[in-house]
Amino acid sequence: MDKVLVEGRIRDLRSEIERHRRLYYELDAPEISDAEYDRLEKELAALERQFPSLLRPDSPTRTLGGRAAEAFSPVRHPAPLLSLDNTYDERDIEDWFGRLARILGRDDLEFVCELKLDGLSVALTYENGAFVQGATRGDGEVGEDVTRNLRTVSDIPSRIKNAPRRLVVRGEVYLAVEAFAALNAKREEDGQSVFANPRNAAAGSLRQIDPRVTASRPLACFCYQILHAEGYTPTDQDAVLEDLSAWGFAVDPRHRRCRGLKEAQAYCREWTERRHDLPYDADGVVIKLAPVALQERAGTTAKSPRWAVAFKFPAEQAQTQVEAIEIQVGRTGALTPVAKLVPVKVAGVTISSASLHNEDEVRRKDVRVGDTVLLERAGGVIPYVVRVEVGRRPVVAVPFQFPASCPVCGGPVHKPEGEAILRCANRSCKAQIKEGLRHFASRDAMDIGGLGKVLVDTLVERRMLSSLPDLYGLSAPSLADLPRMGDKSAANLLDQIAASRSRPYERVLYALGIRQVGEETARAIASRFRSMDSLLDASEESLQEVDGVGPKVAAEIRAFFDVPENRAMVERLRNAGLTFEAPERSAGQLPLAGLTFVLTGTLASMPRPKAKAGLEAMGARVSGSVSRATSYVVAGTEAGSKLDAARTLGVAVLDEDALLRILSGAPLPPRTPTDPDRT
Ligand code: IVH
Repeated sequence: MDKVLVEGRIRDLRSEIERHRRLYYELDAPEISDAEYDRLEKELAALERQFPSLLRPDSPTRTLGGRAAEAFSPVRHPAPLLSLDNTYDERDIEDWFGRLARILGRDDLEFVCELKLDGLSVALTYENGAFVQGATRGDGEVGEDVTRNLRTVSDIPSRIKNAPRRLVVRGEVYLAVEAFAALNAKREEDGQSVFANPRNAAAGSLRQIDPRVTASRPLACFCYQILHAEGYTPTDQDAVLEDLSAWGFAVDPRHRRCRGLKEAQAYCREWTERRHDLPYDADGVVIKLAPVALQERAGTTAKSPRWAVAFKFPAEQAQTQVEAIEIQVGRTGALTPVAKLVPVKVAGVTISSASLHNEDEVRRKDVRVGDTVLLERAGGVIPYVVRVEVGRRPVVAVPFQFPASCPVCGGPVHKPEGEAILRCANRSCKAQIKEGLRHFASRDAMDIGGLGKVLVDTLVERRMLSSLPDLYGLSAPSLADLPRMGDKSAANLLDQIAASRSRPYERVLYALGIRQVGEETARAIASRFRSMDSLLDASEESLQEVDGVGPKVAAEIRAFFDVPENRAMVERLRNAGLTFEAPERSAGQLPLAGLTFVLTGTLASMPRPKAKAGLEAMGARVSGSVSRATSYVVAGTEAGSKLDAARTLGVAVLDEDALLRILSGAPLPPRTPTDPDRT
């Protein structure tokens, strides 16, 4: 190629790579896949090798990606947090193995294979057993100080035992796939923008200015490397993982010792197949030479160790066409655009639609009917549109116009202040009624099993139901007239509806479908406001005294009961005979009724779920977060941020022995702030 042309291409590649690094590391908003990014880096490296005179010391091939954001103070890492070279197939791995064997002069090599978590690399510093600093990777040399945020991650111990005096470990902070889906569902419901994948969600959560926001996201962290340890010399990677775990860090149990190249390749194959069984997103496998002495002999390049390599799973992406963009209307009137797609297989599953989340998202991606889009299964499960292949856009494709009225009822739509979501303002919109009824009848709410989606649709379409209380007025003859519904099914359904009258008050509260009031919150509200009457006029201030109810939730509850139609609906439910009061708390009935426990750390005598079940069986509520409303925090070993929170808030702390005594029926200890014996 002509040198002038090459110069131009190199310039373009450098600026593109820098741009994508910024998008990935600083803005948490990558536009291209890792594989595409790697292709850019590889092309640049190849051109620079071919034309060494064009090589510059500041070329992205010689520097690590990312730069520290300015909101957090910079932290210099004790040793660079290197990145890894990527391989994409078995041949690549063989080439890497060959190079390593040549450098070391032997090929009887053993490896430790680990999953490559798709999260955020962090460095955690401990002094005399106490967690003193946590930093993001940044550019590998200097990261951001996110200590306060990392203290809220329960996998990161605030104290560790029997560890070196000064210890810096490296780990990966991530959001489990389930937690990611729940977070996005809530954001979608709240009209906030959604995260494209768990990695972005974890990154966004970790870089919050307010640690309380981080604390509300269930981040997790696996550790895998020691960056610095005074007076500690591990023999191999297996021992490192074992020691990290013994000190109290969470270590991914799926790592495996592999003897030779073949076993390492088998591990890569196995997890390529099973990647969707993982509770988190992994984008590959890391193959690490096991013995530390050999790692040191192999050494590192400017960017990455020679003794380790990443094997990237093949991208689970596919191209397909958008046949239509439909608008779905949810229980709270939220209008969600959904791309209807020509069915395509992505990672073994046929995908025919993908949520486009909200208007901003459709605009940003500029998805149009007729477009060819690149589809990916984020978090392994949820299909999403990565981008539009603009080059393949038909000339006739026009930008998608959001409807000015609700596609179901024709009512006006509005966008509440500060939200990205359009909502149908008509509370008697059929879509809202149907979704509201479905929620009301769902298993965790009123549990009316016979009232499925199709039946709800039919009953609403035939105007037999237009609000929740109408259910209690349904009669056998009118039901028996419906298609595929005989006398017997009608009678069954009516029995189930009648039985729902005795569902406890907290379930009724949840079934009402008040925005932001999930099952846990409904339970907490019911234990403080023990009757519907006491709740109907509760002030926002008093609502906020409930565990898990902040200003936003309190405002939603107030707003719900302030709407006259909702008040009338609640009264009709009362007249239908639903349970509007919590049962009397009689002493001696359930000894822990009305008390809230939080469990933290590891219990030696039983797994945490078992302790939780035991406490709940005695009437206690077991919550995941500490607040002033918490009655007791039970701290096992290596209790983390929740123990700190209990101390700050003056909540009574119990040790495991005290818990065992309570579970065996002993009287409760006083609720004064106490401290368990620390070992
Ligand atoms: S080892 C010198 N092990 O992958 C050791 N990295 O491109 C270098 N990662 O930035 C890292 N899981 O954030 C290692 N089990 C694992 C990993 C892992 C995820 C990330 C890490 C790093 C990137 C490499």
